[in-house]
Amino acid sequence: MRVSWQSLYEEINNCQKCDLCRQIHNKVPGQGDVHAKLMFIGEGPGADEDMQGLAFVGKAGQLLTKMISAMGMTRDDVYICNVVKCRPPQNRVPDAAEAAACLPYLRQQVALVKPKVIVLLGSTAAKTLIREDFRITRERGMWIEKKGVWFMPTYHPAALLRDESKKRDAWNDLKRVMAKLKELEANENGGSESV
Ligand code: URA
Repeated sequence: MRVSWQSLYEEINNCQKCDLCRQIHNKVPGQGDVHAKLMFIGEGPGADEDMQGLAFVGKAGQLLTKMISAMGMTRDDVYICNVVKCRPPQNRVPDAAEAAACLPYLRQQVALVKPKVIVLLGSTAAKTLIREDFRITRERGMWIEKKGVWFMPTYHPAALLRDESKKRDAWNDLKRVMAKLKELEANENGGSESV
């Protein structure tokens, strides 16, 4: 059953399905255009996100904002969220059980937004949504289509801050995302003209 945004956010805010919720200041459900064609999925909130209850507002988030703007969009044009909605202590990677506990919320977000394209930021998002043994360094930049949604796995902005040499590959991945969005839009327009 498809839930409403209100009930989904309430469920997330009341969630105690794993221990991550015990040490946080705020849940971080995600934010942006709830009808966006493009969605970004990261790993989990860091300290800034935990304090503000908003996804990608710290240093990595500022870089993500620049990346979105280089794509000719603003953060208000896209939907941004994470695999887990609670900050893991010391920013550790969420474990498989934590990611699995939170996955139904992410699936509901995808079902509600109905994006055409999803950018998976980093290994945790790719492992959770594509395959457990997904290798971001080897397999990023390749399209994966599932049930009509196109997934583009790329580097996490935090990885780009740690290693600037990865930026060129990440930008190429985002250029492919822009091209795909154009292509899908052209197909949609072409389709409606012929009806
Ligand atoms: N890193 C993430 O994966 N998500 C955030 O919201 C912030 C940093």
